Amino acid sequence: MTEVFNPFSLSGKTILVTGASSGIGRGIAEACAKMGATIVLTGRNEERLAATAEALVGNGHKSIIVDLALIGERQILVNQLPALDGVVYAAGIGQRQLCKLITENDVDEVMDINFKSIALLQAELLRAKKIKKASSIVFIASRAAFSPSIGNAIYSASKGALISYAKCLALELASRQIRVNCICPAMVWTDLILKGGLTKEDLQEAEQQYPLKRYGQPEDVANLAIYLLSEASAWMTGTNVDLTGGESNL
Ligand SMILES: NC(=O)c1ccc[n+]([C@@H]2O[C@H](COP(=O)([O-])OP(=O)(O)OC[C@H]3O[C@@H](n4cnc5c(N)ncnc54)[C@H](OP(=O)(O)O)[C@@H]3O)[C@@H](O)[C@H]2O)c1
Repeated sequence: MTEVFNPFSLSGKTILVTGASSGIGRGIAEACAKMGATIVLTGRNEERLAATAEALVGNGHKSIIVDLALIGERQILVNQLPALDGVVYAAGIGQRQLCKLITENDVDEVMDINFKSIALLQAELLRAKKIKKASSIVFIASRAAFSPSIGNAIYSASKGALISYAKCLALELASRQIRVNCICPAMVWTDLILKGGLTKEDLQEAEQQYPLKRYGQPEDVANLAIYLLSEASAWMTGTNVDLTGGESNL
């Protein structure tokens, strides 16, 4: 029988997925396992992380519960990790606050998880030599980095910081053929948007404004992550890929 050509296979790869207990991270973990990868799942919520682990096909996956904002817990994660072929940074939080009301706590809360913990974990992984040659690193940024909306200043800035950081990281790691790319989704149906202040009905009405008449699903983001983690994207680094259901006014 002829073998089916599949440049998107993740067979034999070990991939760390942060934020795997919910939404986009969970969708990515499930999809990568279906493509043959062994997944290291991480999140804070034990019950939800266990639910993701339960949903994964294949064997050998591992769950590690940590709060990524805490240096001691990041160290626990790094110490338990095998050598990695891919990392997907999906952990993140949303926040809405008017600029005139922003407090130090608001800035710290969002930047700590959406930017600082990522830059520090990536440094810790590199120092511990956990990232193999020719690996792929994928950051879940956001269209919010480019598209202003009232009340979204700190969140948008956190994603802008991540995108700038990722471009520098891509240059730094290129000599080892390690690739670094960002995915910039518009609205995706997860807890994050359901906790954002609008009702589900408001969101369902708003999604009709998108040319494809719907917000994204975690699987839509997961399919792009598969591409970026696979050999199919071997010549791609330092980029941001928008995923917006055709909406260009974002
Ligand atoms: N949904 C959208 O419309 C959208 C659009 C663009 C970009 N994004 C980005 O996509 C990523 C995933 O978001 P989502 O929509 O899937 O949201 P979600 O369903 O709320 O999931 C967020 C994930 O981040 C984890 N997390 C948060 N703080 C953490 C911490 N301190 N330590 C460890 N894990 C932590 C959560 O873990 P626990 O629940 O276990 O605490 C959870 O797994 C985020 O970076 C978000 O900014 C989302």
